[in-house]
Amino acid sequence: MAGNLAGRGAIVTGATSGIGKAAVAAFLADGARVVGIGRDTASLAALEAASPGLFVGIAADLADLARAEDATARAIAHLGRVHVLVNDAGVGLRANLVDTADEQYQRMFDVNVRATFVTCRAVIPHMVAAGGGTIVNVASSLALKAARDRAVYAATKAAVIALTRSIAVDFGARGIRANCVAPGTTDTPWIGAILAGAPNAAELRGQMEARQTIGRLGTAEEIAAVIAFLASDAASFVHGATFAVDGGMTAW
Ligand SMILES: NC(=O)c1ccc[n+]([C@@H]2O[C@H](COP(=O)([O-])OP(=O)(O)OC[C@H]3O[C@@H](n4cnc5c(N)ncnc54)[C@H](OP(=O)(O)O)[C@@H]3O)[C@@H](O)[C@H]2O)c1
Repeated sequence: MAGNLAGRGAIVTGATSGIGKAAVAAFLADGARVVGIGRDTASLAALEAASPGLFVGIAADLADLARAEDATARAIAHLGRVHVLVNDAGVGLRANLVDTADEQYQRMFDVNVRATFVTCRAVIPHMVAAGGGTIVNVASSLALKAARDRAVYAATKAAVIALTRSIAVDFGARGIRANCVAPGTTDTPWIGAILAGAPNAAELRGQMEARQTIGRLGTAEEIAAVIAFLASDAASFVHGATFAVDGGMTAW
């Protein structure tokens, strides 16, 4: 079914799971052609099989600078014209600053920030030359409001917001519209893994639900709907913004 993104080309990192996978589904439903990037080759193959000719997967570890650059170049080449870039791939850690090891710090910055930097650096000149485009970067409510044991993860997501604002300032007049979504706690495999590893999963889930004033976790589809809106012409005057999509987590 053709919709808001009919005929547009979109790159989505983190396409294999959770919010990114839901964004791929929303984009395909809206009529876009999508290149998805992630490491899970089985998930990429399943997405390709479900949407032949409309979805192409590129397997790459975005923590690796050269692979991130190569994957982005291949995605641009495949689509020919990139109208939309979504940086969703991310990794996290439940730890305070003192308990965070160098390698953990580095990995979070490499995936969450450097990969976003690398894809944007490659895609923006392409979009400018081709007449414009829009970027949606996935931050976090934890960049807007602190929570225990999220120090470096929160810092990476604050960096994503700052990068996105700078893109808006530097390239807005050249046809690039750039925004962030800042999800609250969302029921994805990421949160599933945290709960599975918790000594009292029901209690932890209850705490996660209670800190969002709406009283529940979000769904990946609820975040993806806002990503699809921001990527569409319906959001044509939304620029340099960070949309909290968090069930009211940052409302108090
Ligand atoms: N769920 C939440 O509560 C929540 C809240 C706020 C913000 N967010 C943000 O939303 C985004 C998606 O999270 P999610 O909850 O949907 O998590 P998820 O289900 O675990 O998905 C994470 C995605 O990131 C990709 N990824 C991770 N490391 C990668 C790497 N080194 N190279 C390439 N791809 C990599 C994964 O792909 P592969 O496994 O295939 O590599 C996967 O597609 C993240 O940026 C996260 O910080 C989530």
